[in-house]
Amino acid sequence: MLSEGLVHLEGATFLRLADNITNDSLGPSSKDFQKVFYNPAMAGSRTRSVILMKNIIDSGFLGDSEIYAIDGLAASGLRARRWLNELPEEYSKRMRVTICDLNENSLNWAMKNHEQFPPSHGEGILTPRQGDLRTAVLDQGWHWVDVDPFGSPMPFLDTAIQSLARRAVLEISATDTAALTGSSRTALMRRYGARVKTDGLAHDSGMRVLLACIARNAASHDRSIQPILSIWDSHHLRVSVKVTKSIKVSNELEENLGWRVASPKVEEVQASIDAKLMPPSSLESLPMHCFLPLSYPINRKDNRVSGPLWVGQIGNESIMAGFTEEIAMSLCTTSLDEDKLLSWTERDFELEKRRILRSIRYIQQEAEVADCRCLILTDDLASWQNQGSPPSPNKMIELIQNKGFKAARSHYSKPSFRTNAPWDIIVECLNETQPPM
Ligand SMILES: C[S@@+](CC[C@H](N)C(=O)[O-])C[C@H]1O[C@@H](n2cnc3c(N)ncnc32)[C@H](O)[C@@H]1O
Repeated sequence: MLSEGLVHLEGATFLRLADNITNDSLGPSSKDFQKVFYNPAMAGSRTRSVILMKNIIDSGFLGDSEIYAIDGLAASGLRARRWLNELPEEYSKRMRVTICDLNENSLNWAMKNHEQFPPSHGEGILTPRQGDLRTAVLDQGWHWVDVDPFGSPMPFLDTAIQSLARRAVLEISATDTAALTGSSRTALMRRYGARVKTDGLAHDSGMRVLLACIARNAASHDRSIQPILSIWDSHHLRVSVKVTKSIKVSNELEENLGWRVASPKVEEVQASIDAKLMPPSSLESLPMHCFLPLSYPINRKDNRVSGPLWVGQIGNESIMAGFTEEIAMSLCTTSLDEDKLLSWTERDFELEKRRILRSIRYIQQEAEVADCRCLILTDDLASWQNQGSPPSPNKMIELIQNKGFKAARSHYSKPSFRTNAPWDIIVECLNETQPPM
């Protein structure tokens, strides 16, 4: 039995926090490897992981027998415990989940929590594995590997990819934000072999740099990737990709890698259109950014350029469309009647429900534009076109849709939308939002 420590609820899963954790010390401050680490700021990431797993199993991608999953840097083990507890019973029955961590205390604590608060339907198997993930992951093949480190995931990438079954899902977090968004240029070059311009799209560029690294590493092991969900959430980035064994990967890889150029010149925009990296548009007004193919002759000293990065889709339409409020509510929340342990009020439960809904905001809408490369930040758009007030993303979306193109809000840290509309149409819609002179 666990006796000490606060009882906490995240999603629909209880955990007793280790006695070294108090309400005041919750969070990312403690990286003491002897302590059990629990960071409530990652709750949204764990919620999305549960819903993603449900949607992937629904899609049939992982077949219909046992699913071997590893929560590779498990800490409190809450992610794995949420999979088992919050997935529907018939899915949990198929789950064989391993929690791996260097820290034995963490695994002991996670297993004690699992004993005290087992999955409500009683299904699913959880096994601890103490050790270094870089070698432990090679114990067997996996259908699902989760890598959620302090800082950069790069040290774990190669063996994680080698350990994957022929069809598998890899979920990777990165918290080395300063490197990935280009503020720490040397760390970015050293770890990811890329450059990122520190502008409004730096977070999107950093995410694409990470996807390019995963794709190249996968290709070196005869595997191809298909991104299914890519998200920045406050201090961290998370990408989830399907990985499939295939020897025909090299063409596909080259098509999906390239560069992003800020303030592009006419010939660069034309090259982007020719490579089908942006919709045809007149070149009267030039866009804020464009993608270029990997083969384009880039001057590496040109500070307008970010990359090499992934220029393909960063999400999958049908999987993202499954991030509905109904699914989130039914899987990831519990009601007051079921609580015998927390001194939560009805309002506390209401706040937890709101947190759950916030963690999936815009993902379902963004599914409609998952194949659209163009991400527009409305504040940047207004200043680029010398317009006074930035338009509301919703107004822009409505105007663009009325002209027959796709547009939807983006799950991004700044007001923004994605669209397949040509640049001319975006400018025309912007002008329509401005008050008459
Ligand atoms: C950011 S925490 C993981 C958080 C957890 N995934 C969650 O959702 O709460 C990183 C964990 O990785 C563990 N760790 C660090 N290096 C490791 C390695 N090489 N192999 C296995 N575990 C490691 C640490 O002990 C720590 O518990």
